[in-house]
Amino acid sequence: MLPRTKDLKIREALVTKIDLQGRCVWLTGASSGIGEALAYELARRGARVAITARRKELLDDIVAKIAATNGEARSFPGDVLNLDEMKRVVDDIERSMGPIDLAIPNAGTHIFSKPEQFDSAEYLSIMQLNFGGVLHCLEAVIPRMLLRGRGYLAPVASLAGYRGLPRAAAYGASKSALIHFLESVRFHLQPKGISISIVNPGFVKTPLTDKNDFYMPFLISAERSAKIICDGIERGKRTIAFPFPLSWIVGLGKFLPAPVYERIVDQLW
Ligand SMILES: NC(=O)c1ccc[n+]([C@@H]2O[C@H](COP(=O)([O-])OP(=O)(O)OC[C@H]3O[C@@H](n4cnc5c(N)ncnc54)[C@H](OP(=O)(O)O)[C@@H]3O)[C@@H](O)[C@H]2O)c1
Repeated sequence: MLPRTKDLKIREALVTKIDLQGRCVWLTGASSGIGEALAYELARRGARVAITARRKELLDDIVAKIAATNGEARSFPGDVLNLDEMKRVVDDIERSMGPIDLAIPNAGTHIFSKPEQFDSAEYLSIMQLNFGGVLHCLEAVIPRMLLRGRGYLAPVASLAGYRGLPRAAAYGASKSALIHFLESVRFHLQPKGISISIVNPGFVKTPLTDKNDFYMPFLISAERSAKIICDGIERGKRTIAFPFPLSWIVGLGKFLPAPVYERIVDQLW
């Protein structure tokens, strides 16, 4: 059933801006790249940051660096592929740091898919991490936010989820699924006090993109991306797509007829 205009107006009024100062933030994929930069930026803005990834020693280093700047962070190692582990992590965070105000499921990865050597297991493994991993985190945290009648989610998807790109069949499909899922659940969660910002980065310099063998237009640093994401969350933006102008170009690409879109991508790639 399509939402009624009255419901839309109510949701519009419920868009929450969040001041990060003093907030308890759970961030996954925090041991490197965008996640690591976000951990520093969140702490710099006064948030109390709970960081999760598999590599505990990297998390501990980040906690120590944040403590050295008088910020507050604690490490809660875990694998987002394991739902029980994510439930345990959320339980540990809330017992030691209090209710999670904001969750940023950011853990994810990328592979170049080769549809000529079709391997469904490879596609499903990317889907399992980039989509399933976020679902596990949300299952662990949403029921608690619903009970409190407030919360904020800012999962990290990608501009690559907007439309098909060469060699991105697995990655793009996983991010597209995530964007679609979040747009849909927002109809249900927003009226119950849970806001969602969908984070769609373009190219950000991280250990993940250091592996890319092609020119990455409008590449920005992880530190810059962390600032843009935190600004967007503090403004309560529904979609945090960056960097400009790549976000606009890719956004416009959504509306191009397929033959035009394919010709442009063929020229650029
Ligand atoms: N860089 C870009 O240009 C770009 C663009 C658009 C979207 N993104 C998205 O941004 C997010 C971060 O990417 P990044 O570039 O910062 O990559 P990255 O440097 O490779 O960081 C990935 C993070 O995810 C964690 N991770 C991976 N598998 C995990 C698992 N099973 N359980 C828990 N944590 C796991 C890694 O930590 P451990 O290995 O320690 O577990 C690491 O902290 C990803 O979702 C990516 O798709 C990146």
